[in-house]
Amino acid sequence: MLNARGLVQTDNVADADIIILNTCAVRAKATDKVYSALGRIRLIKKPDAILGIVGCVARESGADAFRRVPDLNFVLGPQSYHKLPEILENPDMRLFNIDLGGLEKFDEMPQMEKSPLVTYVPIQEGCNHCCTYCIVPYTRGREVSRAFADCVHDVELAANTGAVEICFLGQNVNGYKYTDKDGKTYRLSDLIRAAAKLDAVKRIRFTSSYPTEMTDDLIDMFATEPKLLPFLNMPIQSGSPDVLRRMNRPYDLDQYMNIVHKLRLARPDIQISSDFIVGFPGETDDDFEQTLQIARAVKYINSYSFKYSPRPHTAAAQMSDQIPESIKSKRLTILDAELNEIQRAFNESCIDKKLMCLCEGPDKTGRHLVYRTPYMQQCIVNATDDKPKQLCNIVITAANKASLRGKIVD
Ligand code: 5AD
Ligand code: SF4
Repeated sequence: MLNARGLVQTDNVADADIIILNTCAVRAKATDKVYSALGRIRLIKKPDAILGIVGCVARESGADAFRRVPDLNFVLGPQSYHKLPEILENPDMRLFNIDLGGLEKFDEMPQMEKSPLVTYVPIQEGCNHCCTYCIVPYTRGREVSRAFADCVHDVELAANTGAVEICFLGQNVNGYKYTDKDGKTYRLSDLIRAAAKLDAVKRIRFTSSYPTEMTDDLIDMFATEPKLLPFLNMPIQSGSPDVLRRMNRPYDLDQYMNIVHKLRLARPDIQISSDFIVGFPGETDDDFEQTLQIARAVKYINSYSFKYSPRPHTAAAQMSDQIPESIKSKRLTILDAELNEIQRAFNESCIDKKLMCLCEGPDKTGRHLVYRTPYMQQCIVNATDDKPKQLCNIVITAANKASLRGKIVD
């Protein structure tokens, strides 16, 4: 949208005519960072540069953002990005829109002429799972799925303009469900099939999935569609049934493990990643121990763990038994050590294996190329070729907890 109006991207804030902070509100730390960044930027920007925030912090703060940062020009929620050019037409206004419920932005935003090698295609927005800690249902609203034909169109456009890997994106991506005017209902498995038909598309994945929405049609895709990568992000959050209940994540561990089992039957080499929250209100040492146990049992790779952060508009923020920061920190350190150990063991198990990897480009030194394995590990190879292959087989020669080293074989 901005390119079409003659603007180009700059890396230098002091040069910019318009500065957009794209923001996340999922934890307090992310929100705080936005306001400290705004404080810094105000001091170095050109006096007449237009400054604003878009995304979930805009939605969370609302008009209060203008009070906190008086020279802010625009505050646009996650479903109002397409309104941005209005501020160029009238820089003296305060542009404000935090409305929800629309897929309008997808119709309004122009199509990209060139797509990145890995292209993210948003297929649904919002979330109907009201986890008691999570601000997403407030910032993004109820779940809405985009029209099947629109999603396929975006995948085709990406494939025709440079994409090799498609990642379907949504807060609750496997809840994707769209019924067209003839009454035919489409699910994520239909989108995967449609993407896999395109020659240019070599790898497909999706994120983020809610465990109990891993329906059999989707699990079957791991058995039948080789382009679907053997890697799945399926957050469990906690290994304690009590904590899960208070988180309003109504699945039991048997149910979760049964889904893991079905996935492994479908695709024996599948690896699973999770998000974890430690220090949820009322979490005991025993609850936390159960989280460690589930992490060991599933052998999660590429996982993320967070200290529970009380958020506005959420039920858990009002719960008694909030856990002291020092205990949260201790638990996080223990969990991270465990997850690192599992990751290191998995990375080492890849030594001597041949993996089909996708090139992300040179590293900072320019002497190496960074590739991504089918399990989303980083794999470093020596840069010997001026025109590195985008997709190639690499034999893994060494591993540590953070990355792999390898040699391109074909
Ligand atoms: N505190 C800490 N982590 C949170 N997440 C969501 N809400 C919170 C919160 N209030 C984490 C969850 C989710 C990931 C995107 O962020 O683990 O899966
Ligand atoms: Fe938030 Fe995910 Fe729970 Fe939805 S399923 S409320 S996005 S944590």
